Amino acid sequence: MTKHEWGERATEAFFGRRHGKTLSPAQIERMKARLPTLKIDLETPAPTDLRSLFGADVDDVRLEIGFGGGEHFHHEAARFAAVGFIGVEPFVNGMAKFIGSFDKVPLANVRLHDDDATELLDWLPDASLAGIDLFYPDPWTKRRHWKRRFVSPVNLDRFARVLKPGARFRFASDIDHYVNWTLLHCRAHDAFDWQAKGPDDWRRPYEGWPGTRYEAKAMREGRVPAYLTFIRR
Ligand SMILES: C[S@@+](CC[C@H](N)C(=O)[O-])C[C@H]1O[C@@H](n2cnc3c(N)ncnc32)[C@H](O)[C@@H]1O
Repeated sequence: MTKHEWGERATEAFFGRRHGKTLSPAQIERMKARLPTLKIDLETPAPTDLRSLFGADVDDVRLEIGFGGGEHFHHEAARFAAVGFIGVEPFVNGMAKFIGSFDKVPLANVRLHDDDATELLDWLPDASLAGIDLFYPDPWTKRRHWKRRFVSPVNLDRFARVLKPGARFRFASDIDHYVNWTLLHCRAHDAFDWQAKGPDDWRRPYEGWPGTRYEAKAMREGRVPAYLTFIRR
């Protein structure tokens, strides 16, 4: 039994909310029709070649954790048809929003997990991902809540195990303390190198960046995002 199999999961408290506004009947219908076919069955062992999870022929697989309404996730999956995208979002209304976009523009290179991302991470084979995106994770600004932050030594171990050498871990946040926290945790972890030569590298959004709902709100409220990129050694 590895240390990750015990006591290292997010609990309900870690997610923030699981449900918001009641879903409309149309959203419920779409979720019923789409989610079962897109959801990954974690009861079945992961295939040795993760690319076989997808209906489309894909060269690589990437993961986005906590995609919110899926603005970036859907946009990125549409941009890169030859990459398989796994999206994770436990907040039901966020998943319903993504399923709404997916219903309008279905994509064959998408699979989903609607619960804690650590479950999916522990299911994935070693060195199976070409990238992990973690954008605007819940900031948990109070000191006593810092331990709930998704970036932690144990989750960086999880990332290090599932990322291929040379793969990217991207992290965006509008909370300076969380940005510094992530820089320090990645520096202390021997698997990650930060890719930045000057301030432009973390102030400039990623190539093709469509923004996210959370980011738009942060910017309206005057906070400045940072966009970090680490490479798995
Ligand atoms: C502040 S929101 C940002 C959402 C989106 N990335 C954006 O930029 O609009 C953080 C998201 O992370 C999700 N989340 C929190 N804990 C999670 C976990 N353990 N696994 C997966 N997602 C999680 C939440 O449900 C929430 O939707």
